[in-house]
Parts: sequence; structure tokens; C-alpha cells
Amino acid sequence: MTEIGNDLEKAAGILIQGGLVAIPTETVYGLAGNALDDKVVSRIFEVKNRPSFNPLIIHVNGFRAIGSYVEQIPPLALKLAKEFWPGPLTLVLPKKSTISFLVTAGNEGAAFRVPRHPMTTKLLELLPFPLVAPSANPSGFLSPTTALHVAKQLGGKVDYILDGGPCSVGLESTIIGFDEKGNPLMYRQGGISEEEIESEAGIRPAPYNASVKAPGMLSSHYAPHTLVKIISKDQIRLVADGQKSGILAFDHFVDPGPGGKCLVLSPSGDLGEAARNFFGFLRNLDEEGLDQILTFEFPNKGLGRALNDRLSRAAANKTTSIP
Ligand code: TXA
Ligand code: MG
Repeated sequence: MTEIGNDLEKAAGILIQGGLVAIPTETVYGLAGNALDDKVVSRIFEVKNRPSFNPLIIHVNGFRAIGSYVEQIPPLALKLAKEFWPGPLTLVLPKKSTISFLVTAGNEGAAFRVPRHPMTTKLLELLPFPLVAPSANPSGFLSPTTALHVAKQLGGKVDYILDGGPCSVGLESTIIGFDEKGNPLMYRQGGISEEEIESEAGIRPAPYNASVKAPGMLSSHYAPHTLVKIISKDQIRLVADGQKSGILAFDHFVDPGPGGKCLVLSPSGDLGEAARNFFGFLRNLDEEGLDQILTFEFPNKGLGRALNDRLSRAAANKTTSIP
């Protein structure tokens, strides 16, 4: 099993030697390696069982660090970076040749983020290179929000797990790219809400339609092993009847029936708290050996949008039996 610890020097040493370290960020744990070494990058794809057409986010230690890696920065990107970095925002920017096409899966745009977790900030300071870090889970499954989640899913396959406690945001970063005019495009809803982006940018990001879809944008992703159904409250009796059901509820307890279990994400109805608990609670229900997990749509505002996005991907292709 892989060692879990908080030894930054050790983590840096492993990374410098071309190893892989799971790192805490404010969003989810990442599986990190040297972004400038293709051998390391290939191993990350292998360990995650990730399709090579799904590009990786490059984590840097502050805005200035991207100068060596991007051709130009649209004015709006600068504005968003100033407002939200360090934090759960990823920007897709035209890359220089210093970033390989392996990292970007052949795209001219590379994705950059300055994470906010103090441990990872210090780790990046110790390194002479940026880190690629996809979420530290096997491709397609739930993202890890604690070091233990990483150990359960990837233990033995990474060289060290840095334990920075539970993630404070709990959902992956929001990904924003730019069209030819420099206007924002929403690649992925995440830890910074669309409303926050719009208020800073002065314009609502248009949805990005990739011609080649990356898995984080595929309909089925972020999925537990148990069947997940999104239902409305009045379907509950119909759908739960005769089944051992897990219920992932937003702000109040819903009776799951005999042998079932209900977890409430935020009794006070706080979307931030719900986001923090989301992956962990889904994981918890997934480990109960239930017949199904029932969930309800979140209010479609703020972090609720990103939560609904993750929910629909966790449930994709599995909802056929809902009456
Ligand atoms: O919060 C996060 O972003 C976490 C933490 C660890 O930083 N990372 C993360 O990485 O969620 P991953 O690999 O699980 O998801 C990255 C998403 C994928 O959907 C990928 O397609 C997209 O970012 N992406 C990465 N590079 C891109 C690029 N050059 N152009 C477009 N999309 C890109
Ligand atoms: Mg992921």
C-alpha cells in the first residue's frame, strides 16, 4: 500500500525523480506528476486508465508561472485569473511548444490552474516544473475528497499520498476557455459558479461544444458502482418500493424504506456544504451494497449547477426504469 503522510520534502523528491504523488487541492485530490516529462505524463494516463484523448490540467504556482507556457492571454482571462486565482478556476489558453501535445491530447489550448491548498502551494514552490494533476481516481469513477479515498482507489499505484485533510470545495474546478473574440466559453461547471464568472467577466460564458468530447464532459462520468436515479419527490414511493435504496438528499431527510439509508448533504440548505459532502456521501452510499441510489435535482443556481452536472453524469445511461 502507498504511504500516506504530510512530508513535503519527500513528495517533492519523488516528483523530481519522475514519480507520482497524490496531492490535496481545495477542489478534489489530484494525481500529480511532472508536466514537462512525457514519460511521467504517460504513466498518469496508465494509472488512471484514462483515454489518451482526455487532456490534463497543468497546475502552476501563480499567474506569472504561465508565461513560459502560453502564447497569449486574452484580456478577460487576465481579469478572471486576477479575481479567482489561486482557486477553483481552470483557464484554457493557447499553448507554447513547451507543453507537449500528450498533455493537451493534441489540442492547441492547454488548461491551467493555480490551486489554493496551502500544502500544494508549498509543494509547487519546491519544484522547478509545473504539475499535471487529473483527479486521483480511476477514469469514470467518483473523485476523491480525502487522502483515504485516494488510497482506496489508487493505493499501490502511486508513490506517495500527501494528506491535506478533506477538500474545502469538494467539486472540481470550473473550466473556462475563450473564443476567437476573447469571449468566455464554459467547458465545465465547477467550484466557481457561473454567476460569479458572469459578474466578473460582464458576460455569461457560452456553453462550449467540443467536437471531440473529453470524458469529463461525457454523459457518463463521476459514477459510483451502484445504479443512480434522479427522481422527483413524488416518485419516491414508486421507485423505492421493494428495493434497498440509498437516498442522497439535499436539505432534509427522506424516508428510504426498509433496509435503506438516507444521507442529507446540508441540513441548512447550503450548496457549498452540499458540494463539500457530495462525492464522499455518494461513496458512502455506494459502499452499502444497496440496489439503487436515489437523488433529486439541486436548485439550479450557484454551485447547484455544477452539482446537477455531476449528478446527471453519475446517473447517465442508468435511468431507463423510472416510470
Ligand atoms: O479541480 C480540478 O480541476 C481537479 C484538481 C485536481 O485540480 N482536476 C481535475 O482534473 O478535475 P480531471 O483530469 O479529472 O478533469 C480535467 C478536465 C477534463 O474534463 C478535461 O477534458 C479538461 O479538464 N481539460 C484538460 N485540459 C484541457 C484542454 N487543454 N482543453 C480542454 N479541456 C481540457
Ligand atoms: Mg476527473
